[in-house]
Amino acid sequence: MASGDNVRIGFVGAGTLGRGLALALDGVGCEVVAVSSRSRASAEWLAERIDGSAAMETAQDVADACDLVFITTPDGAIADVALSVNWRAGQGVVHCCGAASIELLDAASGAGAAVGAMHPFQTFAGLGDSTEAARRLSGVTFAVSATGWLADYLPSLAERLDGRAITIPDELRPLYHASAVLACGYVGTLLDAAIGLWARMGFTEEDGVRAVAPLSRATIEAIAAAGPVNAVTGPAVRGDADTIAAHLSLLSEHAPHLLALYRELTAASVPLARAKGVGEGELARLRRTARGPG
Ligand SMILES: NC(=O)c1ccc[n+]([C@@H]2O[C@H](COP(=O)([O-])OP(=O)(O)OC[C@H]3O[C@@H](n4cnc5c(N)ncnc54)[C@H](OP(=O)(O)O)[C@@H]3O)[C@@H](O)[C@H]2O)c1
Repeated sequence: MASGDNVRIGFVGAGTLGRGLALALDGVGCEVVAVSSRSRASAEWLAERIDGSAAMETAQDVADACDLVFITTPDGAIADVALSVNWRAGQGVVHCCGAASIELLDAASGAGAAVGAMHPFQTFAGLGDSTEAARRLSGVTFAVSATGWLADYLPSLAERLDGRAITIPDELRPLYHASAVLACGYVGTLLDAAIGLWARMGFTEEDGVRAVAPLSRATIEAIAAAGPVNAVTGPAVRGDADTIAAHLSLLSEHAPHLLALYRELTAASVPLARAKGVGEGELARLRRTARGPG
C-alpha cells in the first residue's frame, strides 16, 4: 500500500485530460514518473514537460513503474486497458470518466488493486504547462469514489490541487455528468450558435468571438457571484414576448436551424422569469410565443 508523498504516479493515455491532470499534479509537487499512450508521440509530449517522467511503451510498463496509475484513455477503452495489465495487489488504478463508476476497473480490483473514479468537473482543453494546469484545477469539484487506500488518498489529492472531493451515488453519476455537459460542451454549442449569427450579418468568425466572449464571460462571472436568479438578464427572463417574437421572425429567415433550440431555451427560461417576479399573464404569453403557431 502506498501513502502520502511517496506515491509514484503514472498515466496511460496522454490526451486532453491526461496531459492537463498530469501537468497539474506535477505543478503541486506530486511525483509523475511514467506515461504511455496509444502513440509514442503523445507520451513523449507529456513526459518531456515533467521532470523525472519517462515515456514508456506499454500500459504494463507504466503499471510496473508506479504505485498509482490513471487510465486517461477515452471512456470506451478504459475497461480494455484495465483488462490488459497484470496489476499488483495493493496498487492503485483510477479512471476519470464522469458517467461511470469504479466497475469499469473490475479487472484491476479482481487482481487485488485499489480502484477509484476521480472525475474533475473541469475542462482540460488547451493546457500546455504545469502552472497553467494547476491554476485551472484550483477550486474544482471532483466526484470521487474509491476502494482501499485510495478512499483517503484521492480526496487528499483533490485538496492538494486546491479542489474539493464530493461523493455522487453510483446510480446518479449520469445525472452529475449531464450537468457537466450542460455547463461545458453545450455552452460551447450555444456560443457556436451565437458566433455563427455574426456571419449572417457579414462579419468574420473572429469578429463574432470578440463580441460574444466578453458577454459570456461576464454572465458566468455574475452567476458565480450571485446565482442565476440574480444574475441572468435578457428578454425571456424579463417576460418580453415581443422581443422574443422579433428574434424568432429573423431567425426563421437567416438561421432556421436555430429556431427549435431558441424556442426550447425560451420555454426553459420561464421558471427563471417567474423567480425574478414576472407575472403569470406575461409568462403565459412567453410560453405561447416560444411554442409558436400551431
Ligand atoms: N477532456 C476533458 O476536459 C475531460 C474532462 C473530464 C473528464 N474527462 C475524461 O478523461 C478521459 C480522457 O478523455 P480525453 O478528453 O482526454 O480524451 P482524448 O483527448 O481523446 O485523449 C485520450 C488519449 O488516450 C489515448 N488512447 C486512446 N486509446 C488508447 C489505448 N487503448 N491505450 C492507451 N492510450 C490510448 C489517445 O492516444 P494518442 O494521443 O496516443 O493517440 C489519447 O491521447 C475520459 O475518461 C473522459 O471522460 C475528460
